[in-house]
Amino acid sequence: MLTWNEFEKLASSCRSCRLCEKRNSVVIGRGSRETGRILFVGEGPGENEDREGIPFVGQAGRLFDFALEALEFPEEVYYIANVVKCRPPQNRDPAQDEIEACIKLLRQQFLLLKPKIVVALGSVASKALISPDAQISRVRGQWFDKGGTMFTATYHPAALLRNDGLKHDFYNDLKEVKKRFFEGFGA
Ligand code: URA
Repeated sequence: MLTWNEFEKLASSCRSCRLCEKRNSVVIGRGSRETGRILFVGEGPGENEDREGIPFVGQAGRLFDFALEALEFPEEVYYIANVVKCRPPQNRDPAQDEIEACIKLLRQQFLLLKPKIVVALGSVASKALISPDAQISRVRGQWFDKGGTMFTATYHPAALLRNDGLKHDFYNDLKEVKKRFFEGFGA
C-alpha cells in the first residue's frame, strides 16, 4: 500500500497512455486527503485544470463549489478526483483504453481515502464506476453498495451550464449525499 506522497510521485510521472504526451499537468485531486470520506469523481481535466493542476477550477468547478458551499459541506469531508488525470485533447471523452490505464490511479486514491461514499459526476464516471451500461438519467440518485462503500451518481456540473433545468436535481442529489453521510443509510 502506497503512502500519499508515493502515490502522488507515481501519478505525476505516469506515462501509461497517450494523454501524457500533450498534458501540462497530471491533475491528481483536491480536498481532504486525511478525512475525505466522500469521494467525488469527474470525467477528466479540462483546459483550466490542465493549466493549474487542480480538478474543477473552471466554470463547471465554480458551480460545483457553489453548490457544496450552499449545502454547507464541510471541506474536511470530501475529496475530488477524476476518472482520467490528464486532459483529453479538445476535451473529448476519454477513450476506453485511457480509462483502463488511469483507473489504477483512482483505485490507489480509493485505498488511501477509504471513502464511505463515492459520487460519480456524469456519464463517463458513472459508466466507469457503477456499471458500463449506466445511463445518468437512470442511475442518478440511486445507491449501490459495492463492498461496503456506497456509490451514487449525479449530473456532471458542466451539464448544468448547458441545461439550467438540471440544477434542481443536482442540488437535491448532493443534499442527499450529505444527509446519508452524516445520518447513515439506516431507515
Ligand atoms: N470536468 C471534469 O470532469 N473534471 C474536471 O476536473 C474539470 C472539468
